[in-house]
Amino acid sequence: MVAGGAGFVGSALVRELLALGCRVIVYDNFLHGSPSHVDNLGPGAVVVEGDARDRSHLYDVLRRECVQFVFNCVGDTFVPDAYDHPARFFDNNTAAAVSVLLASRDAMVKAVLYVSSTEVYGLAGNDRPIDESLPCCPVNTYAVSKVAADRACHTIHIEHGLPVVLARIFNCYGPRETHPYIVPELISQLHRGPRLRLGNVAASRDFTYVEDTARALVRLMECGPVDATPVNVGSGRAVTIAELAQHVGGLYGYERVDIELDSGRLRRRDIDCFVCDPTRLRELTGWLPRVDLYTGLRRTVDWYESNGRMWSFERRGVTIRG
Ligand SMILES: NC(=O)c1ccc[n+]([C@@H]2O[C@H](COP(=O)([O-])OP(=O)(O)OC[C@H]3O[C@@H](n4cnc5c(N)ncnc54)[C@H](O)[C@@H]3O)[C@@H](O)[C@H]2O)c1
Repeated sequence: MVAGGAGFVGSALVRELLALGCRVIVYDNFLHGSPSHVDNLGPGAVVVEGDARDRSHLYDVLRRECVQFVFNCVGDTFVPDAYDHPARFFDNNTAAAVSVLLASRDAMVKAVLYVSSTEVYGLAGNDRPIDESLPCCPVNTYAVSKVAADRACHTIHIEHGLPVVLARIFNCYGPRETHPYIVPELISQLHRGPRLRLGNVAASRDFTYVEDTARALVRLMECGPVDATPVNVGSGRAVTIAELAQHVGGLYGYERVDIELDSGRLRRRDIDCFVCDPTRLRELTGWLPRVDLYTGLRRTVDWYESNGRMWSFERRGVTIRG
């Protein structure tokens, strides 16, 4: 099962698992995921609409479909949304994670992989590559709700013996993004011309093409630690948002892109730099990214151009802010 499988990371993971010949149950309430992300996947995929917090429904689906492995990609993930909906973030990140763990325990699945986030490191990782020994130092509601879910993975593993893999992924990008994060934002603005209005362009982030992230998650389910100790998933290279903007501008044929500060897009609290130290992931799985930044951005632009120049969040009428 891929819970949250109609979302951005989940739908890439579903495709990766289907390509490997797995039968996949997609479980999603379509809060931010889109049915169009999991259309026409062929006979190997079954899409079930349901809320991950509804433990009894989830349990029934796990038993009925004889699910052996659960990837939990459920989340409320767009950091600025939590300014308006803090309780919803604890529901969809923390309570939903606990529900998935307990339903999986009851249904006796072989293992659960929980998709956590680089954001849990917060300020601790601001000035160095982030390995798993760094403490959690979250600075926003999203990150706090993810830390709580991470700790629930650990305690439920210890107290109930459930095998849990804990993957902390860094920024992903690619087709089917579900929120106005920076790559969709750059593409949406740059297809109209070489001018951008952005927030903090000095921030640097470690971007991994979503198919590479999905492959790492599968490898971790195959051979990662099942004791809920974290494994970071990221390329190990960071770029600034300003550099990223010039890359995407180059794909649209612009020699130079002009960037104007839009203070409305600045986050209330931001981290200067997130860069992954992927040593543990490599030692455990042999994973290396296969898609470099230029190729991944090219593929993302091509997807956007051939899918009606529309991200799913634009269909939901989401307005963009920091
Ligand atoms: N995208 C990234 O760069 C990134 C980086 C770090 C961590 N993550 C983590 O990866 C996971 C997936 O993120 P994403 O970018 O694909 O986000 P997303 O919003 O595209 O996917 C989350 C999915 O969960 C579904 N969902 C939300 N609440 C639900 C509920 N109560 N019951 C059932 N389904 C529910 C949504 O409809 C959506 O399809 C999240 O846990 C997120 O914290 C993502």
